[in-house]
Order: sequence, then structure tokens, then C-alpha cells
Amino acid sequence: MERHSIVVVGGGGVGKSAITVRFVLNRFVTDYDPTIQDSYEKEIVLDQNKCLLDILDTAGCEEFYYLQGITYRTGDGFLIVYSITDRSSFDLVTHFLHEICQIKDLKEEEVPMIIVGNKCDLEVEREVSYQEGQDLARLKHCKFIETSARTNQNLEEVFYAIARETKQI
Ligand code: GTP
Ligand code: MG
Repeated sequence: MERHSIVVVGGGGVGKSAITVRFVLNRFVTDYDPTIQDSYEKEIVLDQNKCLLDILDTAGCEEFYYLQGITYRTGDGFLIVYSITDRSSFDLVTHFLHEICQIKDLKEEEVPMIIVGNKCDLEVEREVSYQEGQDLARLKHCKFIETSARTNQNLEEVFYAIARETKQI
């Protein structure tokens, strides 16, 4: 079976674990427990072929950034997550993107990645507009999707889209 290694990155508390757990186990984690590193497996059917997603849920907390090198090297595809309710997490997207490209020694357009604006159920707390997310993604040559781990909005879409992109390489 084909395997795709997907790495979920982004600032602290943006919902990386919530997105991953929602997709893999279909439940919403309400508590906030900062991650060091967790890995999950999920079998999906992509264009009639079974494939296995190895999903690595990484640390948003800077203390654990030393793990980035090895993690990014082994990743085939990346979800770069921010929270639409946290402007500073949006500003970090470019930083993560650069780190990934530098470590993999590839150009932005060569790395399969998707920018994910999470917590889109919290419209009243929104700090980053949909347009801004879309503009950044266009600039960085990647897809953009807003999600909610709470309502399960667009999570299948995100993981299938990144699986499809990693398949092409
Ligand atoms: P680190 O592991 O520290 O990097 O954080 P993280 O990015 O994994 O965040 P986590 O998934 O732990 O979520 C942080 C908090 O945000 C938790 O209390 C979640 O319940 C909440 N949360 C995550 N996603 C959503 C969402 O889509 N909507 C809402 N309303 N809350 C969310
Ligand atoms: Mg986490």
C-alpha cells in the first residue's frame, strides 16, 4: 500500500492536534494539552486506491522546535495551520514555510503544502480575513482551506487534498 507522510505544523494552540484527532478519530478535543510530537495512521481510499496516511502532529511551542529538522525531512506533504482568531499565528505561516523549504532544500512551489485557516466556526473572534489567507496562499503557490475541528468543516477535504498532492511526486 502506498504511504504518504503528512506533517502538521503551525503556532501554538491553533488546533493542529484538534484537526488531526478529528480527522483520524472523528472526535473534537476541547481541552488544550500542548503537544511535543504525536503520530497517527489512517487508511483512506484515494482515486480507488487504498493508501496509508502517516500523520505527524508537531509542537507549536518553540521549546520543541529542535525536532523540526528530522520531521520536515521525512515529510512528503505539509499542512501549515493558523487560527483565524489569532493574527500572530497567521504571521508565523511564512516562517514555517521557509523553514520547510530550507530544510528540504526545495523551492516553495516544489513542496506539497496547504495553508489551513482553522477555527472558522469562531466567526465573531475572527482576526484574519478569508481574503488574506487566500492572498498569502496565492503568493506562496499553494492551496488554501479554512477548517473547523469543532464542526468538522473541510477536514476530509484538507487531508484528501494533501494526500493527492503528495501522490504526484
Ligand atoms: P500545540 O500542540 O500546543 O501546538 O497546540 P495545537 O495547535 O495542537 O492546538 P490544539 O489542537 O491543542 O487546540 C488548542 C485549543 O483550541 C483547544 O482547546 C481546542 O479545543 C481548540 N480548538 C482547536 N480547533 C478548534 C476549532 O476549529 N474551533 C474551536 N472553536 N476551537 C478549536
Ligand atoms: Mg497539539
